[in-house]
Amino acid sequence: MKKLIMYVLAIAVLGLGSAEAAVYKGQKVYIKKCRKCHGGGLEVAASKKKKTWKKLLKKKNGQKGYGLAQLHLNNKKAKKSWKYFESKKYRKRAKHLKDFLVEYAKDSGNVPACN
Ligand code: HEC
Repeated sequence: MKKLIMYVLAIAVLGLGSAEAAVYKGQKVYIKKCRKCHGGGLEVAASKKKKTWKKLLKKKNGQKGYGLAQLHLNNKKAKKSWKYFESKKYRKRAKHLKDFLVEYAKDSGNVPACN
């Protein structure tokens, strides 16, 4: 019995760890790729609801993060981001980015500590 509890605990801890890792990875992507144009990530994340982020970053036409990429590719003002949004790297990281943005979305309840 004790062994079983330990086992369940270990799984729970591992599961939590990887969810947090994804959010952290997404935040890192944000800082590296988005902040130069949009500023602080938490404010941007909190500007939309979870549902909106999920929609923007979900897979469409076989491409992850399709909506967000299109939004930039269709806007001349975002020209400097086109290369990134067309890259494989972006599509590969889109999931992490989503995890981060959803985690801190307006209706997530995870209000950033400093505001
Ligand atoms: C080269 C600058 C640039 C980069 C890099 C960039 N963006 Fe943008 N982004 C823009 C511009 C310009 C717009 C159009 C909105 C506007 O006119 O202010 C925009 C629009 C958006 C919008 C829609 C805003 C709204 O209120 O509907 C979101 C969300 C967004 N960007 C998120 C991101 C994320 C996440 C990243 C990183 C993966 C990123 N952007 C990278 C320039 C950039």
